Amino acid sequence: MLVGVPKEIKSHEYRVGLTPAAVREYVASGHQVVVESGAGAGINAADDVYRKAGASIIESPEDIYQRAEMIVKVKEPQRKEWPLLHDGQILFTYLHLAPDLEQTQGLLQSGCTAVAYETVTDEKGGLPLLAPMSEVAGRLSIEAAGAALRRTVGGRGVLLGGVPGVEPAKILVIGGGVVGMHAARMAVGLAANVTILDRSLPRLRELDQLFEGRARTRFSTLEALDEEISHADVVIGAVLVPGSSAPKLVSREMLKLMKPGSVIVDVAIDQGGCFETSHPTTHENPTYEVDGIIHYCVANMPGAVPVTSSHALNNATLPYGLTLAANGLEALRTNPNLRSGLNVHRGHVTYKAVAESLDLPFRPVEMALAA
Ligand SMILES: NC(=O)c1ccc[n+]([C@@H]2O[C@H](COP(=O)([O-])OP(=O)(O)OC[C@H]3O[C@@H](n4cnc5c(N)ncnc54)[C@H](O)[C@@H]3O)[C@@H](O)[C@H]2O)c1
Repeated sequence: MLVGVPKEIKSHEYRVGLTPAAVREYVASGHQVVVESGAGAGINAADDVYRKAGASIIESPEDIYQRAEMIVKVKEPQRKEWPLLHDGQILFTYLHLAPDLEQTQGLLQSGCTAVAYETVTDEKGGLPLLAPMSEVAGRLSIEAAGAALRRTVGGRGVLLGGVPGVEPAKILVIGGGVVGMHAARMAVGLAANVTILDRSLPRLRELDQLFEGRARTRFSTLEALDEEISHADVVIGAVLVPGSSAPKLVSREMLKLMKPGSVIVDVAIDQGGCFETSHPTTHENPTYEVDGIIHYCVANMPGAVPVTSSHALNNATLPYGLTLAANGLEALRTNPNLRSGLNVHRGHVTYKAVAESLDLPFRPVEMALAA
């Protein structure tokens, strides 16, 4: 198969769909790889490194989109990339379509087959291609919170770990999945006071065992939320209902309960965010204030550490990408884990939660692939 790797064009996105090491694996499996010139610049991989790995370098993204049978990216295609995608082409990347009607319509019009990293599953029903970026975003969320808490940028002026004799910051993590667990690990490591809320009792039990008392766990109810946000210096939004828009757990009214200058890091912003007052921001301008509360809502947090993120992402995507490259659409028919990644196919939404979120017609994958 001819596999294309365009340079990412989203603001401050420096990751790359295939690292040189991954290119070498595709080439060793008999595929051709075309990489846009400069695509690896953000991870310090020059064109020559890609050539050495067996890729051809192409200057024009239009050529890549026109020639490639499969496009491997990191972020969702941007507006000017939608018309470049075409019928019969596989797109393998993060999409996050549930809160994004315009992009969904762009993909539907292109006729491409869009496999979303974030809904590909593994044997245990987990989300293996979301996990590595969730690990990065979870860990980064605490660094972002620490920076935003500084008085010099409008924060409460609290040091995350405190010092001997002075209380550390109180960090509330809503959603104890991959993001939440890694945020809590970083925060515990800094000696902050950490509480994790979740709706899943089995997950709360796992977290309780893992942290051995160094982080508190609490079942997430409206009452628990009210109480916990009123004490917190930092609230990390890390909930996920797979494929759906994030539930809005903290309303604007509830912000009144929070301490002035405290910080919200809404990691779930890529699924629409779990705070009513969240809207996506960029690394250029990561924060804004609403009712005295600092909001950090960068939708592509791992893009800030592209070297770590690109390698972590490629480690996870490689086996799935190689299966798609080897078998094309047949891989979606025969591999249930890849099939669960199929969000859009030849003008149809094939992921139920996306169709429901956007009020669009849904076509079951089996029916769409049979046509
Ligand atoms: N902004 C970014 O750059 C970035 C990067 C990576 C991941 N994310 C996003 O972070 C979010 C979390 O991802 P994850 O991998 O940790 O997901 P996950 O599935 O591992 O964890 C989600 C957790 O939320 C819990 N949950 C669901 N509904 C809840 C509720 N009402 N109250 C409390 N807990 C609830 C679930 O039980 C689960 O434990 C996702 O939206 C993901 O897309 C964002």
